[in-house]
Amino acid sequence: MDIPTVFDNNQAWIEDKLQGDPGYFDRLGAGQNPDLLYIGCSDSRVSAEELMGAAPGEIFVHRNIANMVISIDLNVMSVVNYAVQYLKVSKIVVCGHYGCGGVQAALQSADMGILNPWLRNIRDVYRIHKNELNAIDSEQERYKRLVELNVQEQCVNLIKTAAVQKAYRERGLKVYGWVFDVHTGKLVDLAIDFERILENIMEIYHLD
Ligand code: CO
Repeated sequence: MDIPTVFDNNQAWIEDKLQGDPGYFDRLGAGQNPDLLYIGCSDSRVSAEELMGAAPGEIFVHRNIANMVISIDLNVMSVVNYAVQYLKVSKIVVCGHYGCGGVQAALQSADMGILNPWLRNIRDVYRIHKNELNAIDSEQERYKRLVELNVQEQCVNLIKTAAVQKAYRERGLKVYGWVFDVHTGKLVDLAIDFERILENIMEIYHLD
């Protein structure tokens, strides 16, 4: 995609928006009040707003390699805390995707430089679920399952935070785990049992 095209597209987009709604940008400029925080992969094929049919202002978005929620990553933790405490979102989604290069890289024994400590967190997911994963014969199916389990563990990481625990009690905030299938375009709800996970991990991770 070349840069002049980007600016041409932007102009066309402005005109398109104003044609249907002359006050569109006045409202957009007035502030945001999104109800959903989306944490997804940086993969160029998984465009959060487009696949959800969301308009500007509707979702707060954070993307990184393999949709990770790591407790010492100041970036993701700032996004989570801001979205929960100030924007008061009532839903958080972790959205992984089949065909994730980050998850695949974690399955291979290669030195990835600065990515090593990042991908290490996905290897930890593998270790936690080693028995289930090793029982899957098909390499492709094992990889897909790791994508799903990684989403599940990142949901667990969210539930470990004080901000999420507090918002759950105060206003029933919920965490969802989804997977986007890049081969079909379908969004799959992993139906993560939020309440059960919360109950299970609170014994150890209770903060608030
Ligand atoms: Co990915």
